Amino acid sequence: MPFSCLSAFLTMGTANPLRRKLSLSIITIIICALAFVALLYAERMSSFSSSAIFTFNSCARRNAAAGSKQKFSLFKERNVDSTGLNYGTDDRFEFDPDECSLVHGKWIFNRSIKPLYSDRTCPYLDRQVSCVKNGRLDSDYRHWEWQPDDCTLPRFDPKIALRKLKGKRLMFVGDSLQRGQWQSFVCLIESVIPEGLKSMKRGRLHSVFKAKEYDATVEFYWAPFLVESNSDLHIITDPKKRILKVDSVAKHAKHWIGVDILVFNTYVWWMSGLRIKSLWGSFANGEEGYQELDTTVSYTLGLKTWANWVDSNVNPNKTRVFFTTMSPSHQRSADWGNVNGTKCFNETKPITKKRHWGSGSDKRMMSVVASVVKRMKIPVTLINITQLSEYRIDGHTSVYTELGGKVLTDEEKADPLHYADCIHWCLPGVPDTWNQILYAHLL
Ligand SMILES: *[C@@H]1O[C@H](CO)[C@@H](O)[C@H](O)[C@H]1NC(C)=O
Ligand SMILES: *[C@@H]1O[C@H](CO)[C@@H](O)[C@H](O)[C@H]1NC(C)=O
Ligand SMILES: *[C@@H]1O[C@H](CO)[C@@H](O)[C@H](O)[C@H]1NC(C)=O
Ligand SMILES: *[C@@H]1O[C@H](CO)[C@@H](O)[C@H](O)[C@H]1NC(C)=O
Ligand SMILES: *[C@@H]1O[C@H](CO)[C@@H](O)[C@H](O)[C@H]1NC(C)=O
Repeated sequence: MPFSCLSAFLTMGTANPLRRKLSLSIITIIICALAFVALLYAERMSSFSSSAIFTFNSCARRNAAAGSKQKFSLFKERNVDSTGLNYGTDDRFEFDPDECSLVHGKWIFNRSIKPLYSDRTCPYLDRQVSCVKNGRLDSDYRHWEWQPDDCTLPRFDPKIALRKLKGKRLMFVGDSLQRGQWQSFVCLIESVIPEGLKSMKRGRLHSVFKAKEYDATVEFYWAPFLVESNSDLHIITDPKKRILKVDSVAKHAKHWIGVDILVFNTYVWWMSGLRIKSLWGSFANGEEGYQELDTTVSYTLGLKTWANWVDSNVNPNKTRVFFTTMSPSHQRSADWGNVNGTKCFNETKPITKKRHWGSGSDKRMMSVVASVVKRMKIPVTLINITQLSEYRIDGHTSVYTELGGKVLTDEEKADPLHYADCIHWCLPGVPDTWNQILYAHLL
């Protein structure tokens, strides 16, 4: 809360000179209390979207932008190795994070593009995402390339990526989709590292891939809500029994300290109902002190807790922070006009309709991310994968996945309505493109 409370004070308090006579802290506390109550009882975030608690102090923003410029130069080497980075034959310029948005573009089919790994060559993939091993026969989904409208996206070069990571820790933090992005990243780089010079240690919460020669690690930390919940380590399958501690993140965050590149996500776990049991502060009766909040309200509180941790613990001279936006699910084939389809089952081509947006991506949740990140002191680079992934109904694991540690049986595969997974993605596949974007930002 402190950041927004300060903004509330700035917009509501400074106009009247008499107010200055009052102690700043008293006004802040009163306004914070009012804002908090308003937040808790608001029907929808949008009902006060332009109200004071979300008004931003523009000076702080300008400072953040200046910081971001500095940070980019910090990570850009003087002699940029430009070998083979630009494959384009058109007049689009090479990707520059300050000049080009990667959000809009199209998928181009090119059979001569081969993924840098397969689920047979990369030993680190979970069975859950190893679609070919699990029986997927069509292969077109592995040959699409994201082409932004305004620039060319450099291809992922594992050797350059490793050089950028030299002496550094890269950590993905979030849910199972983030775990997919982590495994994709590991597989993209691991084939150029000789046997004996790499290692993998998997843990329930924290997993570490090491590239010894480069003194680099690519890590994953499991925190599906980023904030703490009673369902982090021992997953509670009934969403109604999950309770989120929307103001607590320290237990997870202590593992993020000292990391050089942090990549966060959180979305899909919040989408299990209209309301979420949320807990903050400490209550004498412990978990019974929760209150059911609208999903977007709870998400706002959780993300602000995360943002506050980042703002107070991350040194922007040392650490870069990224946030991967929501990964769309494709549960309703009517969204893309396939009225007789079953979820994403049997889809083999991306949607071509420009700006297609389905029911699996909640715009209100997206705007929460945008407004929280915009108000942060530490610059956070968004890896905005939502639109490009929206097109990729063909990229999900569908029935080529596992359930309870076992690959689906033929009977289960024949029942896509119940068994097709249209949330997770095959690897190699769409998350490789998310990492291509991350890679482009690291160059
Ligand atoms: C397809 O990919 C190959 C290999 O990267 C490249 O040489 C070729 O220009 C691409 N074709 C098109 C149409 O983009
Ligand atoms: C980051 O670097 C700038 C310029 O070198 C310096 O002024 C600033 O104090 C540093 N910030 C931190 C948190 O170390
Ligand atoms: C959907 O199925 C119905 C009934 O089997 C059929 O009449 C209709 O033509 C199908 N629609 C499309 C778009 O395939
Ligand atoms: C899946 O697609 C294949 C090829 O287009 C088709 O032959 C098959 O009937 C489809 N299966 C279902 C259940 O729609
Ligand atoms: C990501 O891109 C979409 C457009 O596809 C945009 O609507 C959304 O606001 C962007 N998300 C954020 C957090 O900026």
